[in-house]
Amino acid sequence: MKKRLFVYGLCLLGLPSGLLAKGDKETLLYKDAKVPIEKRIDDLLSRMTLEEKVSQLNQYTLGRNNNANNVGDEVKNVPAEIGSLIYFNSDPALRNQVQHKAMEESRLGIPILFAHDVIHGFRTVYPISLGQACSWNPKLVEQACAVAAQESRMSGIDWTFSPMIDVARDGRWGRVAEGYGEDPYANAVFGVASVKGYQGENMADGKHVAACLKHFVGYGASEGGRDYVYTEVSPQTLWDTYLPPYEAGVKAGAATLMSSFNDLSGVPGSANHYTLTEILKQRWKHDGFVVSDWGAIEQLRSQGVAASKKEAAMKSFTAGVEMDMMNNCYNKYLAELVSEGKVSKTSLNDAVKRVLRVKFRLGLFDQPYTPVIADKDRILKSESVAVAKKLAEESIVLLKNGNNILPLTRFSRIAVVGPMAKNKEHLLGSWSAHGRPEDVTSIYDGLESEFKGKAKLSYAKGCDFDGADNAGFAEAATAAKEADVVVICLGEKRGWSGENASRSTLALPQIQEDLVQEIKKQGKPIILVLSSGRPLELNRLEPVSDAILEIWQPGIAGGIPLAGVISGKINPSGKLAMTFPYSTGQIPIYYNARQSARPHQGKYKDIQTTPLYEFAYGLSYTTYQYGDLKASATAVKRGQKLTVEIPVTNTGARDGAETVHWFISDPTCSISRPVKELKSFDKQLIKAGETRVFRFEVDPERDLSFTDGTGKRILESGDYYIIVKDKMLNINILD
Ligand code: GLC
Repeated sequence: MKKRLFVYGLCLLGLPSGLLAKGDKETLLYKDAKVPIEKRIDDLLSRMTLEEKVSQLNQYTLGRNNNANNVGDEVKNVPAEIGSLIYFNSDPALRNQVQHKAMEESRLGIPILFAHDVIHGFRTVYPISLGQACSWNPKLVEQACAVAAQESRMSGIDWTFSPMIDVARDGRWGRVAEGYGEDPYANAVFGVASVKGYQGENMADGKHVAACLKHFVGYGASEGGRDYVYTEVSPQTLWDTYLPPYEAGVKAGAATLMSSFNDLSGVPGSANHYTLTEILKQRWKHDGFVVSDWGAIEQLRSQGVAASKKEAAMKSFTAGVEMDMMNNCYNKYLAELVSEGKVSKTSLNDAVKRVLRVKFRLGLFDQPYTPVIADKDRILKSESVAVAKKLAEESIVLLKNGNNILPLTRFSRIAVVGPMAKNKEHLLGSWSAHGRPEDVTSIYDGLESEFKGKAKLSYAKGCDFDGADNAGFAEAATAAKEADVVVICLGEKRGWSGENASRSTLALPQIQEDLVQEIKKQGKPIILVLSSGRPLELNRLEPVSDAILEIWQPGIAGGIPLAGVISGKINPSGKLAMTFPYSTGQIPIYYNARQSARPHQGKYKDIQTTPLYEFAYGLSYTTYQYGDLKASATAVKRGQKLTVEIPVTNTGARDGAETVHWFISDPTCSISRPVKELKSFDKQLIKAGETRVFRFEVDPERDLSFTDGTGKRILESGDYYIIVKDKMLNINILD
């Protein structure tokens, strides 16, 4: 009551009115849910002081940040006017307690926006994004993100710092785990699926959260795969490779973006007016806001473009970063910069409106508190776990199946060996939010329940993930000797990929490779199972393994889907979204590279010229025969579209889900273009003996054109090719 009288008094003094007409419930206009959001924003803004506006543009943490790369002082007494908090707890009650302070102790009662890195699940953790992409099932990824959104929102999180859609082609960079691989179109499709899953049709329904496209932009081009470093990105590559996923995500309605650490060819992503304002706001009309990455504003000093935190604040803000994540730059200097005229009041108001807009769209003004309900109705619900399991299953890639040794139906004694066999923690992967190892089914446990009554399992760890202790080799060799077949479970610790986790080689530690060689001496077939956050260097393991399966970091489903694949209950359908080089020395190596001036020369002399496993590669337990490509027209004028189709027959004895990847090629153009570019993909279940037709609706303006260095899309007349596997169809664009 006291507050309302105060405001009423202010309004009588001719301050902004905003009070509803007499007779109606005297509600401040911005608090009235019946009023259109833009009017509520304008009304609220008109009441805010400079300090209140600046507070909305800051984000602190609530709780201890468990990301060792970002040690930030815990803010003890969170100011009631703060714009956002990164929330590290999973208890809605604590969040509500802090929200109550904002609603009741601040002058205007502006709700706090609570955020967290929910990257591949909140508590129901599903595969890392790189694994998700190998499912080629965006609908399933959307479902998984909807699960993450529901668990997050019902646990007090309104905003996730996801999806990461940085095209990445260097597996030495640990963050390849967090994105959707080497292709721009794949990152765009999965980025859009994630935004739809997180945000749903209505972000205010209590089960969806605001998404955040990150890291804007070009972060995946980190030189040498080292994190936080310089990225050399030409304007044409910026537009053709790194921006498309963001343009798609913005068009899909992503509420926010996160500005990147990397120095984008001399202008850091967090101080880049061209990307943050000219492109994002002026050309793409994004009406949400941009949050800096943690420390990215003050890091402008180490990047040599700001001499002080105050200058860093000015450069980031005027470039188009609306919110300061834990930099302590905006809260300290923005008001001063406004009073000095270095930051305009108009731009400040626009920034605040963008933040308020997301809060209104999330319904936070009308429902600022999270209903506190029991865990069982909030997390690890059976239908949520089922989605996680299905996505883990479809992410598995069968890389080798010598003599069709898989599925294991002919063996009664199976030795399960290796450091990953009984590990649970590392199957969660990086950025696993509130995922818990105890929620994970280990590979061994998955196999044990799958083969119960069918085969006898034995176990030996053999060695650790790294180090030089091979004392366990003898036990592993004995287990192998006494078995008919050996499943060797190797891979990466979850901390070996993700942020600040660059590695100089994609090879597994020597001790793991030595274990395989030791087991090989026993002369038994080897099924190599890999759990990793990146492509691996397998050229020494491939020859000694009869079968190879990459399960990525599958989340809580862990070894369950894998066991189904090994037993034959599940037919694997995953295909690579990122190239596996023959060796680390081949990097960068990716499918959509430009043709060399001398295609048959200039290659490395000491190793093969092709990767070990190429983009879109993956085996099945059945076989498919691809028919001929057919087009509705092979010559079209500009503005006309055409349909290309291809029949695919399942020529094997069991049903399978097959993904057809549609590529285009423009062999002669005014600029050199990649040898081929993915422009569509489609996954269909094909029953044994059945033929399904896959179609690609080609829109030449969208699918055959290229983007120049100004972002202009250009469709030149002439010959193009539509490519599926080794089949090509010539299409001519008429003058
Ligand atoms: C980190 C990451 C970013 C994450 C943020 C908040 O440094 O770069 O992806 O969302 O900080 O944890």
